[in-house]
Amino acid sequence: MKSFIKVIAIVLVLVTFSSCFNKNDRNYQYMPNMYKSVGYETYQKVEFLPSGVEAGLPVENTISRGHMPYKFANTLEDKELARVQASPLDSLKSEENLAVGAELYTIYCAICHGNKGDGNGTLVSREKILGVPNYSDAGRNITVGSTHHTIYYGLNSMGSYANQLNDKERWQVAEYVIKLKQDLIK
Ligand code: HEC
Repeated sequence: MKSFIKVIAIVLVLVTFSSCFNKNDRNYQYMPNMYKSVGYETYQKVEFLPSGVEAGLPVENTISRGHMPYKFANTLEDKELARVQASPLDSLKSEENLAVGAELYTIYCAICHGNKGDGNGTLVSREKILGVPNYSDAGRNITVGSTHHTIYYGLNSMGSYANQLNDKERWQVAEYVIKLKQDLIK
């Protein structure tokens, strides 16, 4: 008899609790801040962070440390000014720079320009892209400065590599392109 009462009691308890649960209602959320983050606007100052750590926009007319803006615009006139520039890299470390340049060239450029710079990369032989020049093409008069400029801005169907290569790397690749050009002329 006692166990019968127990069973009845358990059933009653279950019925009482389950009848409070409504499937159509939202469930309880424990610690709702784990589900819903506070929305912040991008590039806004955030009050709880000490100044200098938030991702606010830089103060006008300032540049971030270690970054040098490129001084030439993407115009034909400025490209001619860029063309006569010499490479600022240390000529005594030329071997080292060429080695790095060769590696980056193989990663980013050879797919179109070919390992030798003759314009016969894989994408060209598979006819995926047209008009890739040979670096020794006299009409283009490719120099280390013009190559650096082209890497920065891209040219027509060639995209810019300013986001993939930093300034030093751009010069390293440009020096390597000139080496390829000289080897092609030989
Ligand atoms: C998607 C294929 C592609 C890739 C990748 C590519 N290029 Fe080009 N590149 C081209 C094409 C196409 C042209 C010709 C653009 C034109 O004259 O309209 C060109 C032109 C050039 C020129 C000649 C610019 C001039 O002044 O006439 C240079 C130098 C050059 N590329 C260097 C590079 C270097 C260095 C890289 C790697 C960082 C690279 N390219 C990656 C397709 C590519």
